[in-house]
Formats: sequence, C-alpha cells, structure tokens
Amino acid sequence: MADYMPEPYRIKMVEPLKVTTREERESSIREAHYNLFGLRSDDVFIDMLTDSGTGAMSDRQWAGMMLGDESYAGSRSYYRLMEVCHDLFGWQYFQPVHQGRAAEKVLFPNLLKPGQISISNMHFDTTTGHVMLCGAQAVDCVVPEALDTAAYHPFKGNMDNSRLVELIEQYGRDRVGMIVITVTCNSAGGQPVSLANMQETASIARRYDIPLVIDAARFAENAFFIKEREQGQGDRSIREIVRDMFSQADAFTMSAKKDAIVNMGGIVAVREDEQLIEGIRRIVVPNEGFLSYGGLAGRDLEALAIGLEEGVEESFLRSYTGQTRYLTERLTNIGVPCQQPAGGHAVFIDARKILPHVPFDRFPAHSFCVEVYREAGIRGCDVGSFILDPDPVTGKQPQALMEFARYCIPRRTYTQAHLDYVASSMSRVMEKAGAIRGFRVVRQAKILRHFTAELEPYA
Ligand code: F0G
Repeated sequence: MADYMPEPYRIKMVEPLKVTTREERESSIREAHYNLFGLRSDDVFIDMLTDSGTGAMSDRQWAGMMLGDESYAGSRSYYRLMEVCHDLFGWQYFQPVHQGRAAEKVLFPNLLKPGQISISNMHFDTTTGHVMLCGAQAVDCVVPEALDTAAYHPFKGNMDNSRLVELIEQYGRDRVGMIVITVTCNSAGGQPVSLANMQETASIARRYDIPLVIDAARFAENAFFIKEREQGQGDRSIREIVRDMFSQADAFTMSAKKDAIVNMGGIVAVREDEQLIEGIRRIVVPNEGFLSYGGLAGRDLEALAIGLEEGVEESFLRSYTGQTRYLTERLTNIGVPCQQPAGGHAVFIDARKILPHVPFDRFPAHSFCVEVYREAGIRGCDVGSFILDPDPVTGKQPQALMEFARYCIPRRTYTQAHLDYVASSMSRVMEKAGAIRGFRVVRQAKILRHFTAELEPYA
C-alpha cells in the first residue's frame, strides 16, 4: 500500500451528510430517470461527480472573502489577483472570467475561423463545444498508451507529437487554428503531460506558426507529477516547474474551480500578444462584465488569488494526489480495473472490463455508476459513450475510445474513511456486475444531452 500522507490541514467546520436507505436511493434514481445529474445532492452520501467547484476553501480564503473589494472598477482584489498571477506564471495579461468555459468563449473566436480545426491531446467537452461554436472542429491527438488502461506510462496525457505533425501536414497549416495542451489530460484519466512533451509540442507550434494554448484547469497537479515522475525534475520547486510549463505557450484558459480551489472562477491569459488580449477584452466587456471583475464578485477574486497560491503548495499536492493513488490502489487490489497509474483528480474505472457483456450503446460506465449509487449513495459519472451526443445527421450513437466511470475527489473535502467506504462499496458492486444490463436513452437534448437525458434500464 502506498504511503498515505496525512492531510496537511485539519477540519474547522463540517457539513453533515445524509445517510439514505437502499429503498430511498432506488426511488431517487428512478425519479431522476436514471440520470445521476438529475439527483438532488441531499440524496447523495459521497459526491464524486466532479472536482470542479466542490473543494473546501481554507480559513485564509474565507477571511479573504470578507476583505473582498466590491468596487465596479479597479477593485483592490483584482490587483491582488493580478499580482499573484504575474508572480506565478510570469505573463503579461490576465483576465478574470466566471469559469473555464467563459475563458474558452472569449478566447477561441480570436483564434478559430469556420472550417478550421483545433488539435489537442484531448479536448474537454466544453472545449469541444466552444471549438464547434466557432464553426471549427476538434481533433484529439493523445499518445496511444492512454488507451491501454492496464499499461503503466508515467505521462499518459502526452501529445502524440509525430501524429500532430502528420495532422498539420494533412490538413495544411492554414486550417489549424490552434493547438491546445490540456494539463492534466482530464478525459484520459487526469493523466499528466511531461515538460519534455510540452516543449516538443511548443517547438512544432512555433515551426508552423500556430498559436499554442494551455487548458490549465489542473496545472498544479501536472507540475507535481512532473516533479515526481520526470527525470531531472525531482529537486525543482512546483513554482519553477509551473514557470517552465507556461514559458512557451501563447495563451491559457483556466477553470479556477479545480487547482485554484474556489467554488467559482476562471482566468484567460495572454503571454504578450497585445492584439490578442484586446480581442479578448472586446468580448469580455459585453459578456462577462467590466475588465476588473470579469463576471466575479470582488470577494471571489480575493479567494481566487489566495487559492492559486495554496493550490501550488507541494504538501497539499502530495496529499491530494496521494488520495487518488490510495483509492486507485485499493480498488486495483480488489479487482476493480482502473486507469494506471493513478492520475490527478479522480479515479477512472475501466467499465468495459467490468461489464464486457454491456455494449457501448447501452453505456457500461453509466450503468456501473448507477449501480454504485444504488449500492452506497456514491455519485460518479460516465466519461465514455454516454457523454457523446448522437451524430446530428444519422442519429447514430458514436463509440468513445474508453468507457470510464469517473470518481472525482473534491479537494480538501473527504477523508481516508470516505475513500475506504467507496472501495468496499465498489467491491460489492463487482459481485453483481453480471446482472447489470445497461440503459437506453428515452429522451434527450441535441447538444450535451448527458446532463438532462432520461434513461430506462434494459430488463
Ligand atoms: N477544461 C477542462 C480540462 C475541464 O476539466 C473543465 C471542466 C473545463 C475546461 C471547463 O471549466 O467547468 O469551469 O467551465 N471540467 C469539469 C469536470 C466540469 O467535471 O471535469 P468550467
């Protein structure tokens, strides 16, 4: 068993959780039409749906909330945030926005024209959405090792750089509007990208003169994995590694709801291109609000400035990634197949291996998650075929590369005992796996259907 670093904080305030019976859970999930997003959070015992905006703020952050300056223009809290950002990333321009997808919304129209493509190790689903809203297409280009969940590779989030070059040559340089490095690579299992890989991607982007964007939602965890796993990086500080990760990109988008440990917030940043930041600002003002608050309250800016600094503390990152590793190892030991090695923010369970008899269009990962909820009130979510919308023309269900049941660990929120409970509950679900039959969708929206779709179990 991995050494488990005690949490470098203690609990000062608690939020009670409701313990439910199996009958109550059966009725809750039925009423939610078997969609985990349809559950009331009160009916969930351990909520691992996402690590986004669900972390616990520190006493310093809460104190900062009281000091937030709510001035419409030129808020003190805005300047504090700017100082922290400059210090951490060393770039010129930072613009607060209300969350990660808002950063995408204000940046991408400046880089993508209709008919172009965006190439990323893996686009997150809102990222794909905003690429499509620009009339462009998202192409994923992660290393093939990411697809073999049992194979150990320290950087399964890496860009497949030789394929990247092939894609640029195939589409032609002018059709590639941007290259996006997502750190960590959420959709592949919270898997990190190595510094060497990022540098190689950056040199390709420079060679072809294509803008390079970092999706920085989980930048601090990525830096920690570089320190732990990449040769020659072990003695460097997280801040030094962060500086290197960001030294060669042109812009970044950040959902601050992850590594900056706030409940709401985001940042879009530009290294030095004045024209690009002007283009962003033109979209921010009518959409997000004036530049010095960008859709956030002054107190949010204050908490974000503090959270950014806490999020890069090495002891916190060691403990947090240790939780994911601990749960992954416990699950692996009891025969639950997980993406190996453990990534940053979540355990990614390979549902295809647990439910080989459930085809992709009956949604094995979703089916597993529903069973875990019924068993123990734990909520995870499908990162597999269920989150892919049917083809708008043919109506056919696309098949995802991987069928992951994702169980996120909100930051500073749950204890080791919670994780033990998750492992023992899943072990009971494994015994019943043969009886799981899968689901059919009976009602759905055209875009991002998984949030609201209604499902029925196969008998
Ligand atoms: N990029 C990545 C890599 C993400 O994981 C997310 C959100 C976003 C962008 C969008 O940020 O939610 O602040 O607008 N991921 C969450 C998740 C929702 O559950 O993985 P947002």
